[in-house]
Amino acid sequence: MHLVLGVALAFLARSGLGAKYACKCAPGMPCWPSGSEWASLNETVSGRLIMTVPVASVCYPSEPAYNPETCQSVRSNWTTWPFHSADPASVGDPSVDNACSPIYANGTSVSGNPNAGKQGCSLGAYPPYIINATSAEDVQAGVLFAKKWNLRMNIKNTGHGGKRRSISIANPLCRSIKIN
Ligand SMILES: *[C@@H]1O[C@H](CO)[C@@H](O)[C@H](O)[C@H]1NC(C)=O
Ligand SMILES: *[C@@H]1O[C@H](CO)[C@@H](O)[C@H](O)[C@H]1NC(C)=O
Ligand SMILES: *[C@@H]1O[C@H](CO)[C@@H](O)[C@H](O)[C@H]1NC(C)=O
Ligand SMILES: *[C@@H]1O[C@H](CO)[C@@H](O)[C@H](O)[C@H]1NC(C)=O
Repeated sequence: MHLVLGVALAFLARSGLGAKYACKCAPGMPCWPSGSEWASLNETVSGRLIMTVPVASVCYPSEPAYNPETCQSVRSNWTTWPFHSADPASVGDPSVDNACSPIYANGTSVSGNPNAGKQGCSLGAYPPYIINATSAEDVQAGVLFAKKWNLRMNIKNTGHGGKRRSISIANPLCRSIKIN
């Protein structure tokens, strides 16, 4: 039997979610791992560490990934769950995903925001780094890294079936364990 594990481990950027997460390390804080720490994690997971690029960034001429054709397909799939499920960063929740929502050439977003183009594409609440895990070892490396550096982490199932689960790793100092 051959099991292919499709999960994305996200190292979350959110620090503004209230006291519950105040004890987690976030980007810009002195505790945030250095570039070489991330590079070493990347080696451990065989190069599967991704610097998050919102999937709809292909719609923005100012973004390196700009590609009108791909944008067309992102636009037509934006309201479908399988599309968001398969993307490592997408959560399928417009309040999060619309920090970079697909736009038409005139700058209006698919959800009708005429200013989306001007507002540009940003990570919003997406994590800066994601492990595109394909093995239990990748997952374990991510969990250990999150523990070591006190990062809030989320596990998303990107395989077929569209089931999602998220796990917040506990910080001993916070005395809170939360598993969704
Ligand atoms: C991880 O390594 C792969 C393969 O060397 C590379 O393509 C990728 O950009 C690296 N990820 C990060 C976040 O630097
Ligand atoms: C997006 O939608 C098009 C049809 O408009 C379809 O052919 C394509 O497979 C979809 N792509 C993804 C990634 O869901
Ligand atoms: C922008 O283009 C879209 C798609 O062609 C259209 O539906 C929308 O009405 C346009 N918005 C404006 C403000 O012109
Ligand atoms: C994640 O890994 C899968 C399986 O190897 C691959 O098909 C997919 O392109 C990867 N996604 C990203 C964003 O690198």
